[in-house]
Amino acid sequence: MRLLWELLVLQSFMVCLADDNTLHGPVFLQEPSSMIFPLDSEEKKVKLNCEVKGNPRPTVGWKLNGTNIDIGMDYRYSAVEGNLLINNPNKTQDSGTYQCVATNPFGRIVSREAKLQFAYLENFKTRTRSTVSVRQGQGMVLLCGPPPHSGELTYAWIFNEYPSFVHQDNRRFVSQETGNLYIAKVEASDVGNYTCVVTNTVTNSRVLGPPNPTHPQERWGDGGV
Ligand SMILES: *[C@@H]1O[C@H](CO)[C@@H](O)[C@H](O)[C@H]1NC(C)=O
Ligand SMILES: *[C@@H]1O[C@H](CO)[C@@H](O)[C@H](O)[C@H]1NC(C)=O
Ligand SMILES: *[C@@H]1O[C@H](CO)[C@@H](O)[C@H](O)[C@H]1NC(C)=O
Repeated sequence: MRLLWELLVLQSFMVCLADDNTLHGPVFLQEPSSMIFPLDSEEKKVKLNCEVKGNPRPTVGWKLNGTNIDIGMDYRYSAVEGNLLINNPNKTQDSGTYQCVATNPFGRIVSREAKLQFAYLENFKTRTRSTVSVRQGQGMVLLCGPPPHSGELTYAWIFNEYPSFVHQDNRRFVSQETGNLYIAKVEASDVGNYTCVVTNTVTNSRVLGPPNPTHPQERWGDGGV
């Protein structure tokens, strides 16, 4: 029993020795992953992971869009055991493709590409939209025209006042591609103010468009249906 125990200890010691003492080029234990960072998030920090082993211990550097990052040049950067930390990440300065590069005298390896993107949703610039004339029995389209954004959006429309939403049915349709609202065979009860509601599914932020007033083009009922 004692012998077995000693053997085990000896064996693991030798495995350790082999691992530490055999000179070899860098090998990745973890490579960075692509991520989408919500700009309005509480955590003002992005961490790109890179874990390597090698003997001698490899030095790890980073590339952004193929250009070496000089970590000392920007106070927002810090390197923690090969990982890259970016404080107060900035959409303009930091979005792009990252790779970590590990080097020792026995080799140099470059990681896969990790894309850093930012999710955001700006406010609508326009505060008013002109009145749309609608004709009874005809179709109408209201354009949403979402503000600048990144990240997937979903759309809904408020009819007159929150929380009265347009319910989709066989006459009403909200395009999840464009945000536009389509109403077929317009009825008197469809006349009112429509407001597009845009939600960013990544940041969970939501903005309201300007009201789109509609008014009947002619007096309804006269020679109508
Ligand atoms: C992000 O960087 C750009 C370009 O350097 C700068 O104009 C902008 O003010 C920065 N944004 C923030 C929130 O710091
Ligand atoms: C990196 O390249 C992407 C794609 O061409 C570009 O959108 C981004 O602005 C670049 N990033 C920087 C920091 O130059
Ligand atoms: C639409 O909104 C405008 C401005 O808020 C308001 O003056 C108008 O009365 C509204 N129209 C309807 C039909 O609610």
